[in-house]
Amino acid sequence: MATDAGLTTGQLEDRTAVRVERLHRSFNEAGGVLNGLDLDIAPGEFVALIGRSGSGKSTLLRALAGLDRDVAGHGSIDVPDRVSVVFQDSRLLPWRRILDNVAFGLRGRDARRRGEEALAEVGLAGRERSWPHELSGGEQQRAALARSLVRDPELLLADEPFGALDALTRMRMHILLKRLCAVHRPSVLLVTHDVDEAIVLADRVIVLVDGVVSSDIHIDLGERRSPGDPRFASLRTRLLAELGVEDDHEAIDTQDRKAAS
Ligand SMILES: Nc1ncnc2c1ncn2[C@@H]1O[C@H](COP(=O)(O)OP(=O)(O)OP(=O)(O)O)[C@@H](O)[C@H]1O
Ligand SMILES: [Mg+2]
Repeated sequence: MATDAGLTTGQLEDRTAVRVERLHRSFNEAGGVLNGLDLDIAPGEFVALIGRSGSGKSTLLRALAGLDRDVAGHGSIDVPDRVSVVFQDSRLLPWRRILDNVAFGLRGRDARRRGEEALAEVGLAGRERSWPHELSGGEQQRAALARSLVRDPELLLADEPFGALDALTRMRMHILLKRLCAVHRPSVLLVTHDVDEAIVLADRVIVLVDGVVSSDIHIDLGERRSPGDPRFASLRTRLLAELGVEDDHEAIDTQDRKAAS
C-alpha cells in the first residue's frame, strides 16, 4: 500500500506482511514520539504491543493505518492492501442499524449476506436490526470486530479493543478473537495495557520504549495458556520489568487508574 508524504515504500518479501523501517514521528519540536522504529510482522502472526502510557503505541498504529497524514515524520511503511482497525470504542454509527454498520461500504450484491455471516460469527445473529445503543459494550465491540473481519483484512490493527470491558467479558472476547484469527488468519497488531492479555493472545510481544522496539519476545507457551503456569508468570514478571513496573500491585494500580480516567 502506498504511504503518506515523507515516507518511502519498499518491496515486501513474500513472508512479510508488515515492514516498518526507521519510522520517525513527532508532534512538536520538543522531541520525537517514534525515533527510528523497525518492525516486521509475518503473515498470520499475532503481535501484541505494550508500552507505558504516552510511549507512542497509538501513534504507531495510526501510522500503519494511514491515519496520520498531518503528523511530521519519515521512514518506510509497508502494509498489505486490506487493513482493518478496531478501537477501544466501537465507533458504530448510531443512526445505522447493526447490520448496516457491519455492511457499510461493502461492495457487491452479497454484501448483506456477508454482513449477516460476520455477525453470526461473533455471536450476534438475530441482532441485525438492533441499533448500536441497544447493544452492551461487549456486544458493540463484537459488532466492531464483525465490521472489521467482513472486509477480510490481511492486517488487523487493534488499539486497546477490550480496554473498556469488564474482566469476564474481556476473557470471552479473547476466546472469540483467537477463534476468529484461527479462521481468518490476518496478521494482527494489538495494542494493550494488559500484560496478561498480551501473553494469552500473542505469538510475539513487543515493548515500545523511547520510540523504538526495546524488546521483542516470542511467546512459546503453546495454545492453552494459563496465568497459573510458572512460565506465564515469569514472562509476566519480565514484561512488567520492561515497563518499569516492579510488582503486580503497581501494575494493577496503573491499569485501574487508566480505566478510571
Ligand atoms: N495529535 C497529537 N498532537 C500532539 N501530541 C500528540 C498527538 N497524539 C499523540 N501525541 C503525543 O504523542 C505521545 C504518544 O501518544 P500516543 O497516543 O501514541 O501514546 P500511547 O502509547 O498510545 O498512550 P496510551 O497508552 O495512553 O494510549 C504522547 O506524548 C502524546 O501526548
Ligand atoms: Mg494509545
